[in-house]
Amino acid sequence: MLDRLTVTILAEDSVPYESPLLGQHGISLWIEAEREGSTRRLLVDVGQNSDALLHNVRELAIPLEKTDAVVITHCHYDHTKGLSRIVEAIGKGDLPVVAHPSLFRPHFVVEPFLQHVGVPFEDGAERLRAAGARLILAADPLPIMAGLTTSGEVPRRTDFESPGIDLYTVDEAGRLLSDPVADDLALFASVEGRGLVVVTGCSHAGIVNIVHRGLNLTGEEKVAALFGGFHLVESDDERIARTVSALRALSPDLVAAGHCTGFRAQAALYGAFGDAFTPLGAGRRFTVEA
Ligand SMILES: [Fe+2]
Ligand SMILES: [Fe+2]
Repeated sequence: MLDRLTVTILAEDSVPYESPLLGQHGISLWIEAEREGSTRRLLVDVGQNSDALLHNVRELAIPLEKTDAVVITHCHYDHTKGLSRIVEAIGKGDLPVVAHPSLFRPHFVVEPFLQHVGVPFEDGAERLRAAGARLILAADPLPIMAGLTTSGEVPRRTDFESPGIDLYTVDEAGRLLSDPVADDLALFASVEGRGLVVVTGCSHAGIVNIVHRGLNLTGEEKVAALFGGFHLVESDDERIARTVSALRALSPDLVAAGHCTGFRAQAALYGAFGDAFTPLGAGRRFTVEA
């Protein structure tokens, strides 16, 4: 169990009022996990504009060189573009970079035109290794430290949560397949006296599926906080309503959702959770502790 978890939003689709920080379509979070007097630091995703990310890192005085590991939630370019530059900026020779084994697959949309939306060419596995990354690609939950683990592949159990976009891949035989974003990972923390904290990128596995996975995996019974994108931006009202009601049943203390959550879903979450909901924004910092 962790004694304290601090989540700082380094990059996001919006910036708060009067903020000098830069926004972008994408997300990046800085996680400080404290246990028994020592702190470990994780970078979760890197957005898609490393100039803006590094600007915010400087403004927020984030000690990027102290990054202990990077976690990539899924392949989308708005979470991975510039990763090799960021790994270089961290400047460690053997930096663990944790993701799913299918991270580097072909991954594309065909509307309005064929476009690869997965990890950009310039951030491929070889480039990352040359920049100092030690790739740890796991489909199973990967324990990062006591009280902190990745989700591994998230079982898709609800009947109302889909990845939210039509995506494709090709397999090794060249067959065209629909791509369910099986690489969608979240981070689960157990905080002493508070319960489960979920950090998610886009929640393509479904935020309700993800939270249930977190409760099962950690054995926690209480949900302390959810941070990240819920990818409801293109969802219909019914899916939003069912998601909000399933989350209400889980009674989280805090729902901090932005990026691909979408205004209508944010409004519905605010309606349901009141002050226990907050939109994200670059530079916002949250602490979860007993
Ligand atoms: Fe995203
Ligand atoms: Fe995504």
